Amino acid sequence: MIIGIIGSGGREHAICSKVLKSKKVNKVYCFPGNAGTDKIATNIDLKVNEFNKIKEFVINNKIDLLIVGPENPLVDGIVNYFQDANIKIFGPDKLASQLEGSKIFTKKLCEKFKIPTAKFGIFNKIEEVTFFLKNSKFPIVVKADGLAAGKGVYICENINEALKAVKEIFEGKFGLAKNILVEEFLKGEEMSYFIISDGKTFKKFQTAQDHKRALEGDKGKNTGGMGAYSPSRLINKDLDKKIIEKIINPTLKGLKLMGIEFKGFLYAGLMILENEPYLIEYNVRMGDPECQTILPKLKTDIVDIFLACCANKLDSINIEWHKEKSLCVVLCSKGYPNKYKNNLPIKNLGLIQLKKNEFIYHAGTKAYNNIVYSNGGRVLNFVVISNNFKKSKKKINLLIKELDWKNGYYRKDIGFKVIK
Ligand code: AMP
Ligand code: GLY
Repeated sequence: MIIGIIGSGGREHAICSKVLKSKKVNKVYCFPGNAGTDKIATNIDLKVNEFNKIKEFVINNKIDLLIVGPENPLVDGIVNYFQDANIKIFGPDKLASQLEGSKIFTKKLCEKFKIPTAKFGIFNKIEEVTFFLKNSKFPIVVKADGLAAGKGVYICENINEALKAVKEIFEGKFGLAKNILVEEFLKGEEMSYFIISDGKTFKKFQTAQDHKRALEGDKGKNTGGMGAYSPSRLINKDLDKKIIEKIINPTLKGLKLMGIEFKGFLYAGLMILENEPYLIEYNVRMGDPECQTILPKLKTDIVDIFLACCANKLDSINIEWHKEKSLCVVLCSKGYPNKYKNNLPIKNLGLIQLKKNEFIYHAGTKAYNNIVYSNGGRVLNFVVISNNFKKSKKKINLLIKELDWKNGYYRKDIGFKVIK
C-alpha cells in the first residue's frame, strides 16, 4: 500500500514511523513532513491547506490511504473534500470536527446530553458579558469560540483581567468573534483520554498527562506541550467506567442523534475532581506530544486499525498495547513560546545511537544537504518506554546531554508527579 500523511509535527513523525512498521506498506509520502520523516519517507512540499494540489498528487501517485494529523485541515473539511473524490481518508469530517472547531458547539452538546462540564454562559454583547463578570466569583475562564492553537483561553484572577480578555477576543485577536464563552474555573487535575471511533463502535486508545505550560512546576505561558507521560497517574477502573458512561457514550450518541458520525481519533481533555471526570474540551485528533508518547506502546498494526476504521469494521480489531510506561520530553528552541531563532544546525543528531525502546521524533526540523536545522519552537521529542517513569526519564536525560544542542531548552521536571 501507499500511504499519505498530512502534517509536519512530532505527532506525524511518530505516525509515519509506526505506519512503516506495517508489512502492508511499501511507500509513505508526508505533506509536508519534517527532517525526521524525510529520512524514512518522502516529503512533498505542499501545505496542509492546499487540498487541491494534494489531491492531484494523491491521484497521480496512487496513494491508497490518507491520514490527517492536525486539526486545522479537519476543521476546514479535508475529509469531505477527499471523500467526495472517492479517496480513502482517516479522520472526522467537517461537521464532526466542530467538536474542536467550536467550543460553543461542544458546550451546547454537553448541555443537551447532560455531559459533565464546567458551568458556562455564552455572550454576544460586551455590555452583557461585562455585567455578568462584575457579578462573578474569581478565578473565571474566558474563551474564544474557534481554533486558537491553545491561546484563546484566559484564566482570569480578577475583573480587570477578565475585561481585558473579553476586549481582545471581541477585537478579533483570534478571528472574527460573534460570541464569547465564560466558564466556571474547575480546580482539579487534568488528563488526556483518547479513543478511536469508526462511527459505529469505538476502542480506547490510552491515556496521557500533558505538561502544557512553558516553565517548570507547570507555570508560565501555555504552549503546544512541553512533554507528556502515559498512562496518566489518575486513571483507574472506576474512573475509566465513568468517563465512558458519562462523557464518551453520550457524546457519540448525541452526535448521532444530530445526524453526525464521528470517525477518527477523539481526544477528551478532562479535569478530574475527586475521581469524577469533567469535560474541558474535545480535540478531533491525537494530541501532540501525547501521540509520540503513546504510539511506541502500540502492538497492533496501526494501518490495520486505520483501514478497519475507514471500513466501519473497528469491532473486528483487537487493539493491543505494551504495558510499559512511556515518557516524552520536548526539546524546544530557546525563547519558545515567545521569539526564537530558526535555521540553527543540530550537529550531533546523526551521532546518536538509539537503543531499543528509545525514540527521537522530529517536530520543527528541516534538512538541507544531510544536515538537520531547527525550524520551529518545538524541535525534537525524546521518548523512552521502560518499566518505570524514573528510568525512562534518566535515559532521556542522557540522550539530551549527548545531543548537547546549544540553542535548545527543555523542562527538566516532566513527569514530576509520577517521579519521586
Ligand atoms: P483548552 O484549550 O480549552 O484545553 O484550555 C487550555 C487550558 O486551560 C486547559 O488545558 C486547562 O488547563 C485550562 N482550562 C480551560 N478551561 C478550564 C476550566 N473551566 N477550569 C479550569 N481550567 C481550565
Ligand atoms: N498536547 C495538547 C494538544 O495536542 O492539544
